[in-house]
Amino acid sequence: MQRTRRRASPIEPRVGVVRLAAMTDSAAAEAQAKLKRVRTRHFQTAKENGIKIVGLTSYDQLTAGIFDESGIDFLLVGDSAGNNVYGYDTTLPVSIDDLIPLARAVAGAVTRAFVVADMPFGSYETGSDEALHTAFRFMKETGAHAVKLEGGVRSAEQIRRIVDAGIPLMAHIGFTPQSEHGLGGHVIQGRGDGFEQLLADALAVQEAGAFAVVLEMVPADAAAKITEALAIPTIGVGAGPHVDGQLLVWTDWAGFTKGRIPKFVKQYADLRATLSGAVEEYRADVASGSYPTEEHSY
Ligand code: KIV
Repeated sequence: MQRTRRRASPIEPRVGVVRLAAMTDSAAAEAQAKLKRVRTRHFQTAKENGIKIVGLTSYDQLTAGIFDESGIDFLLVGDSAGNNVYGYDTTLPVSIDDLIPLARAVAGAVTRAFVVADMPFGSYETGSDEALHTAFRFMKETGAHAVKLEGGVRSAEQIRRIVDAGIPLMAHIGFTPQSEHGLGGHVIQGRGDGFEQLLADALAVQEAGAFAVVLEMVPADAAAKITEALAIPTIGVGAGPHVDGQLLVWTDWAGFTKGRIPKFVKQYADLRATLSGAVEEYRADVASGSYPTEEHSY
């Protein structure tokens, strides 16, 4: 693996008294699963040991608790809350104040998972002062463990400033939903000549000190090359299998989202149908008088 200089060097990983790096693959995977709390250094040791990092979005304490108990390594309180909580068409209207209560609920519900709060559109682009203030708000007001922002070369100065203040930062390149109008819609990034820009973005965020980078909607071969070129872990969202971890918007994956689901999402459940069925049953029971009964009465 070709490595480039990182500003934030990973802390030597330890589980109990045993170093992950010295373990066999299966022992390292078992140790990762048994972690009491996932921290940034475990993202790094996961990459070094070939252990896949697993992430989901979460916007509330009930799902956060379930995902945490199921061993999901990190939860992103994404600005995809715009589509999944607030009913917006895009992530653009989402504000810091929209995300803070959600991030607080998620961070408060987990014991093991690492919680990342997304910095919304308009909260960091004007410069590193603004970016740092936004990151401070998320760290002080929510209990999240890190922040995420979009952009590679263009956001490097903001990333550096946030990391220098001691705040872990997850970067996000490739398709960046906050720039969807500038990018001409949901367009795959890093194809053909676009690969050079993607690589430059990846190297820029690593150099600026990001502990991991999300690659969204990138061809699998491009994502594989970026993963090979970087020392920090890559987290794929529609970037194929040759990355260090995966992240999905949970409502898409669970069949809860109404409307278009991206091709890269595998359906693991059909919650919309399950919930609609239950709601219909409840409505019919109340209408017919068969609920409540003695059993449900004081
Ligand atoms: O907000 C979000 O859910 C995201 C992921 C899709 C990466 O940014």
